[in-house]
Amino acid sequence: MRQILLITGGVMCAIALIVGSFTFYQANREELSLSSDLQYRTRVLADSLAESIKQLLMQGSRMAIQKTVDKIASNERITALWVFDSAGRVAAYSGTVSDVSGSALAIRAMDSNSSFSEFTRNGEERAYVFVNPIRQGERTIGALMVVEKADYIDEAIRSIWRENLLRLFLQLLLFAAVIFVLVRWVFFRSILKMVESLKAVRKGNSEIDAVPGTSFFEPLAGEISKVTMSLRQARHSASEEARMRLEKIDSPWTAERLKEFIKAYLKDRPIFVISNREPYVHNKVKNKIEWSVPAGGVVTALEPVMEACGGTWIAHGSGDADKATVDAEDKIAVPPEEPKYTLKRVWLTEKEINGYYTGLSNEALWPLCLMAHTRPLFRAEDWSEYKRVNAKFAKTLLDEIRHAKRPIVLVQDYHLALVPEMIKKVRPDALVALFWHIPWPSAAQFNICPWREELLFGMLGADLIGFHTQQYCNNFIDTVGNEVESRIDYERFSVFRGTHQTLIKPFPISIAFPGIAEGHGKLDKTVLTVLGIKSTYLVLGVDRLDYTKGILERFKGIEFLLDKHPEYSGNLTLLQIASPTRETVEKYREYAMRVTEEAVRINKKFGTKDWKPIVLEKRNYTHEALIHLYQHANVCLITSLHDGMNLVAKEFVAARRDEFGVLVLSQFTGASRDLKGALLINPYSAEETSEVLRIALTMPKAEQNKRMKTMRDSVRDYNIYRWSAELIKALSQLE
Ligand code: G6P
Repeated sequence: MRQILLITGGVMCAIALIVGSFTFYQANREELSLSSDLQYRTRVLADSLAESIKQLLMQGSRMAIQKTVDKIASNERITALWVFDSAGRVAAYSGTVSDVSGSALAIRAMDSNSSFSEFTRNGEERAYVFVNPIRQGERTIGALMVVEKADYIDEAIRSIWRENLLRLFLQLLLFAAVIFVLVRWVFFRSILKMVESLKAVRKGNSEIDAVPGTSFFEPLAGEISKVTMSLRQARHSASEEARMRLEKIDSPWTAERLKEFIKAYLKDRPIFVISNREPYVHNKVKNKIEWSVPAGGVVTALEPVMEACGGTWIAHGSGDADKATVDAEDKIAVPPEEPKYTLKRVWLTEKEINGYYTGLSNEALWPLCLMAHTRPLFRAEDWSEYKRVNAKFAKTLLDEIRHAKRPIVLVQDYHLALVPEMIKKVRPDALVALFWHIPWPSAAQFNICPWREELLFGMLGADLIGFHTQQYCNNFIDTVGNEVESRIDYERFSVFRGTHQTLIKPFPISIAFPGIAEGHGKLDKTVLTVLGIKSTYLVLGVDRLDYTKGILERFKGIEFLLDKHPEYSGNLTLLQIASPTRETVEKYREYAMRVTEEAVRINKKFGTKDWKPIVLEKRNYTHEALIHLYQHANVCLITSLHDGMNLVAKEFVAARRDEFGVLVLSQFTGASRDLKGALLINPYSAEETSEVLRIALTMPKAEQNKRMKTMRDSVRDYNIYRWSAELIKALSQLE
């Protein structure tokens, strides 16, 4: 629409300019011609009068002169007609001219012995004054002044402008309408149609055979049709290839292969994902609605799977513009720019969020499962809300699957531990998996939870429970053995309660690789300049601002390094990206403050006018923006005190297309089991962190390359597509 208005506006301005210039020229020409016509006429009149007035002047007959003057001046064009004697006195007159100025003009003409004329203006009135000396032989015996109306010249010019402007206005109106219709209906509609059909082809809609276009766009439409045809053929062969590769264990997993796998394995069974955090959040930013992707492992991992497989993702609508963007069923097609699956939002009240999310999930279960020495807070009222909200999520899902036959339900994380049992009770035909994205603690640690039995019952409603590592599976089986009456099959790693079996299995979660980093353009060198970073060595930390991530320990490690190796002063910067998270939880607010204070303290201790050892960016970065940072970093430093997997480690590896850079990784992350090329540290020891950091910074290129290649191979081999394929395979084999 904006473009149409711009085109129409531009053409109208051009027309207005052309018509304006022509009118100006025409008005000037008309004024010239009318003025010279008037001048000529007045001179002829004055000349013809001069002869008879001369006779009368010589006779001294003032009465006769006055009579002649009155007769001539009755002509309506003549404003005034005056006769002066040789002394400049008025001999006869008709019409008004100031006495003094009339005499002055007459004397001026008589003195110079030549006629004299000028256009005068008095307010709106315009006149032409002509003064002619009257001569008898060599003698000047008087003067004649004729004043003619010249208003009609102004009126003529005005009417030229008026007519032309009216014509211009009508022309503009007509042109605007024609251009608008032409651009909107002929060009724009054709282009839109072409874009629509291209989009459909891109999304794999094979119904479209030719790209429609008007005759004007036919050659273009023809070419595009050919390109889309090749695209379809390429896609078809990719899908054929993927289908053929299904059985080949060693071929790489891609979105395409996963799609084929799902088709082959699940036939038409629909997939439903259910999690607390939604993959896209809509918020109001300065009167506009903007969307963003929240930071966190669940979204990073599951989003590409849903993009590949389609289906429905049910999650809490937490953005302040979420309600404004859904349809009547609280659904929205996502990703917003290129929809591939449906997001259904669940609304929670403030009380529910406080009890279920802030309280039970993040103040009780999170510190219970993650060993970071934060005491879990168990409040009975939070537990009630947790149960209520789990039931709300379960009901939403049950409504959603009411017409679906044997649906696949993938429940995510510790927020929804009770959902599997709630679903299976009503829909035993549904295949339900629960994936626990955080560690599972030892049986003794879990023992302190007052609602441990109900939580375990809820979880064991699932047909399959997945953890990142075998260790977490072992811990879970031990916990179940301690807390719940059940039969455990250690051979198959299954728990039986009555006739219901739950398989417990590790699925180390991963990322989409090859993914966006592969298609990423040139390295953007400005990203560091805008942050004021000029150091030779860049150490990068990327985390949610969470106390389990060991950001304070990381800072200590840097402090230790600078104390021990002052040669790095001025040369090394730790860029810490810390996305704000769970700000309703007090522990997180305190932690965020301490992180800032520590950064300030260390910067004060070592920093100079031009250099800061720590650049702290407390904001969310998009995955695309992070890729540039990963590619610039000499070292990616991950110091989690406990972490289920840590996908930042894998994203760093995926971003390093150059196959250089060093990953320094906490031994307490799930990722430390998968990424054999990383340098492992105990983040509780600042000495160890600093020493390993020094080794990383001085690591020869060949060694970096060897390690990075190993890590890239392992992430490529076990990417998120393989993760979900294995999970779904294990799940569907349970029937
Ligand atoms: C961890 C959890 C996720 C959670 C994410 C972000 O990765 O396992 O379930 O979504 O943190 O936390 P938030 O509270 O913002 O969802």
